[in-house]
Amino acid sequence: MSSKTKKNNRLVLLNGPNLNLLGERNREIYGAKTLPEIEKGLVARASKLGYELECFQTNSEGELIDRVQALRTEAAGMLINPGAFSHTSIALRDALECFSGPIIEVHLSNIHRREPFRHHSYVSHVATGVICGLGPQGYDMALDALVTMLGKS
Ligand code: DQA
Repeated sequence: MSSKTKKNNRLVLLNGPNLNLLGERNREIYGAKTLPEIEKGLVARASKLGYELECFQTNSEGELIDRVQALRTEAAGMLINPGAFSHTSIALRDALECFSGPIIEVHLSNIHRREPFRHHSYVSHVATGVICGLGPQGYDMALDALVTMLGKS
């Protein structure tokens, strides 16, 4: 398989800090599903649609940026829940700007209904689309949208 074909069939799901604690952390806000459960469902959904989905979570801003940079040549499209880095990281925003494929930003909670410091996301400036407030279902919807976009490109 050529590297181009491989890249065209590869998608990535990135999750930022504290999302490894889903299912345990603020369940009234983020729900009861764990990140491995969400990832398992998405990998299966992507596979049915003919795509390979890589899942990566980190609590480290530097690691997330390093992964985003490497993905420039490794993935055709990206789903990302940057967690609190959404509201703080210009460096992550700048790294995402160098990714040429579609990027869907996902938040489980509706960040606009929450504390004012969550209302602004640096990532939204460079995202193709944003889904928030729909819980884990938002990841499914984001994946479907990504696949539709790539099918049209
Ligand atoms: C979040 C919202 C962020 O404000 C928060 O820091 C998170 C999770 C969400 O999925 O709703 O860690 O990205």
